[in-house]
Parts: sequence; C-alpha cells; structure tokens
Amino acid sequence: MKKKVIMSNDHAGVQLAQRLIEFLNKEGYEVDWLGTKTEESVDYPDMARKACEKYINTGGYEFGVLICGTGIGISISANKIKGIFCALPQNCFAAQMAKEHNNANFIAFGARIDYPQSPEEMLKSFINAEVSQSERHIIRRNKMFELEK
Ligand code: RB5
Repeated sequence: MKKKVIMSNDHAGVQLAQRLIEFLNKEGYEVDWLGTKTEESVDYPDMARKACEKYINTGGYEFGVLICGTGIGISISANKIKGIFCALPQNCFAAQMAKEHNNANFIAFGARIDYPQSPEEMLKSFINAEVSQSERHIIRRNKMFELEK
C-alpha cells in the first residue's frame, strides 16, 4: 500500500502545492490534496482545519503539509487543533530537526518566502529524518503533549 500524505493550502499556496505533490509522488507518496485549487481568496484557518481534522479523524497519513503565503497563518491555525504539531522550518536543518527532536506531524511552507534551500529539499530532509528516542527529547515531547490538556 502506498504511503499517504495529506495536504492543504490557501490561494497563495496553489502553485507550490502542485510542485510539492509532484515531488511527493516521485518519492512514492500518494497525496490527498484538500487545498484550494484556484487563486480565488480563501481563509487559511479553514484550509488548515480541513486537513488537520481529516488527519486526526481518518488516520492513515504519514504526515501533513500546509501552505499559505508565509506559512505563518496556516501553521498557527493548525497548532490550535489537538493532536497537531505543525513545524514551520526555515531551512533543511530545521526541517530535519522538526522530525528528529519535535516529532512534528505537519510541516508548513510559505509560498511567498525565499528559502535558502528549496521546499522540496526541506521536505526531503523532513522525510528522511528519524524521530530521536533519546530520553531528553522524549521528556520534552511529552511536555508538549501536557500543554494540550
Ligand atoms: C493571504 O493573502 C495570506 O495572508 C496568507 O496566505 C498567509 O500568508 C497568512 O499567514
């Protein structure tokens, strides 16, 4: 069975979403794309909610990808939903750490941001990273879960 990723975006993120779907397909992922497909204005909290609620309620996804103009609004919105840990990395190193240290289950990008490395490279760093099982990281991740209560 193919590995599945869930994705959503607002109007600012349509083109980057299409690029990342192509990349993820090449990497062997099936992408459930819930984002808007036109440049007609939509609200990023609605687009975050769609993907995050389906991720939580349906399950079966390896991780989620969210895109808006800066990545800020859509990641803040996602992090309001219980069970979502959405990272907004600045570069490949941060994308790797988002999985390794924080075990983020969503990764967000800003379609209007000039990243030092491409979003595809950042996504690859996230995918290839392994969640650290060292005690200090487990303790910190458990404390993040506590904050949700
Ligand atoms: C939409 O114009 C823009 O505000 C949105 O894509 C995002 O950047 C918000 O954080």
